[in-house]
Amino acid sequence: MCGIVAAAARREVSEILLEGLRRLEYRGYDSAGMALINDQNVLQIHKRNGKVKELEAAQAQEPFYGNTGIAHTRWATHGKPSTENAHPHASGGRVALVHNGIIENHAELRAELIAAGYEMSSATDTEVIAHLLHLSLQKGASLRAAMQNTIARLEGAYALAAIDIESPHTVVGARKGSPLVVGVGIGENFLASDQMALRQVTDSFIYLEEGDLVEISPASIQICTIDGEAIERPTTRIKEALETSDMGDFDHYMIKEIFEQPVALEATLAGAANVEQVEECFGHGASAMFDRVTNVQIVACGTSYHAGMVARYWLEELAGISCEVEVASEFRYRKRVQHEGTLLVAISQSGETADTLAALRNATEGEFIGSLVVANVDNSSLVRECDLVFLTRAGAEIGVASTKAFTTQLVAMLMLTLALGRRRGMTDERQSEIIEALENLPHYVRQTLELNGAIQKLSEAFIPKRHALFLGRGIQYPIAMEGALKLKEISYIHAEAYPAGELKHGPLALVDDDMPVVAVAPNDELLEKLKSNLEEVRSRGGELFVFADREAGFANEDRVQVLPMPHCPEVIKPIVYTVALQLLSYHVALQKGTDVDKPRNLAKSVTVE
Ligand code: AGP
Repeated sequence: MCGIVAAAARREVSEILLEGLRRLEYRGYDSAGMALINDQNVLQIHKRNGKVKELEAAQAQEPFYGNTGIAHTRWATHGKPSTENAHPHASGGRVALVHNGIIENHAELRAELIAAGYEMSSATDTEVIAHLLHLSLQKGASLRAAMQNTIARLEGAYALAAIDIESPHTVVGARKGSPLVVGVGIGENFLASDQMALRQVTDSFIYLEEGDLVEISPASIQICTIDGEAIERPTTRIKEALETSDMGDFDHYMIKEIFEQPVALEATLAGAANVEQVEECFGHGASAMFDRVTNVQIVACGTSYHAGMVARYWLEELAGISCEVEVASEFRYRKRVQHEGTLLVAISQSGETADTLAALRNATEGEFIGSLVVANVDNSSLVRECDLVFLTRAGAEIGVASTKAFTTQLVAMLMLTLALGRRRGMTDERQSEIIEALENLPHYVRQTLELNGAIQKLSEAFIPKRHALFLGRGIQYPIAMEGALKLKEISYIHAEAYPAGELKHGPLALVDDDMPVVAVAPNDELLEKLKSNLEEVRSRGGELFVFADREAGFANEDRVQVLPMPHCPEVIKPIVYTVALQLLSYHVALQKGTDVDKPRNLAKSVTVE
């Protein structure tokens, strides 16, 4: 959510900053800007409403250069997307600053600064930080001291990077509640909100901790507390290949990522050939902690929350362990009563979602026996703060709509079910069945991907529609929810999911011949009940799109289109059916001409509350 890139180098950095923004654009794309200090020590700023390409055009038209600079791509919180509200924000022609996060006391600071003679030129909460810095600098503080003074006044969350023409080779940054990493170069150093922005220039990173303040120059990196006490943070060398993946032969990241799922699942499953090995995927100390678990509390947001909902069915039914699942933004503000022996499980693709992180931090002493995160990004905040970590191996997910991250999260949660289940009497036979089903999962996903053409055809019926209903029963209910979320997220069709049995308690009133109803219908014990629910829809003129096990006995008929799904083991059906629903959303969005990878108003990583 918003992206920061900054550089202090001995070479010209405008292209490095722009490339960093391109790599971060999936996190926020309302507006973008860049500030550089040139060799005459003059501050130059370009800001543009819209995507990074607008900023590139501005730079191409009126190029400016420098060795020290900051850049930002924005996802609007305070103040609409516009050139004035884009970052960097400057003060007194001397200092410029970029910010991720939300400053809660901005109104009070704004009033104080206006009284001190500052003029506000934006509606953002960020501009006050630039003026506070300027005020402190004007009183003679160094840039670092000015940053210390400034953050002491801020309430809320921030990752910051600032430059000052009086310290033309330095960038100062600070972090609280929003991520910031230092990219360690040779004769040059960088800051970014996500290491991915800097993989073009370095593979060495220092992950700043909450409350850290950092000053970088081409030759040095100094980290200290808000009180100025020096701190050492380790440097981590990233081993894996450059992750910014191009789109290859695909038109969008989303469809590329949907098709990457067999490989992502294989990578996530690698090495888990038996239950003992499954446990090793959760890291050192997992076994001892799992021995003590009697309940599971899952917290997550959006798609990751749906993964948690599916996991509840697995944990309770297969492992016999009680499980609660809650949206992180609610969990964190609720007075709770936990059972003894509860393991807190956070699920987050990015590992940076502010609400999920806050839920973890909000856990009180002794409330949980420990914490486990299922994340896709190594070294992310949740990964660093949880006791146990399961890293899904989905690879970088660029499309805002989560696809391969979700299916690999489900694999991780099924593996957790195995690990906990064997402690609660899951038979060896059952364990082997689940492992075998997991091993065959990539094969069934490949079979589902072969339905791409058929799903594309089916998707045409959705183009003129403004609403859609998704139905599922049992463990397929959260999959229906995920299907509805995908559709609304990228095609802007209003879609809602219901457990099919709930239909007659209200939503049936919405069903008419203009309401497409998508049903997820595997051949399970609830099939007959689901069939009756679907009849309720049909008899009211509703148009049904049934994603059904090819052995479930559904056939095409008037106002019923059936997509025959591979016949696969029960336990992995939620994962396999998800893939078909992802393809449906993609094709609807494609034909509606929306921005599939960067849907309006959304951002990939939601690092604000
Ligand atoms: C998924 O398509 C969404 N973009 C969104 O719901 C996402 O899953 C949610 O913001 C949580 O993100 P996380 O997994 O990185 O924590």
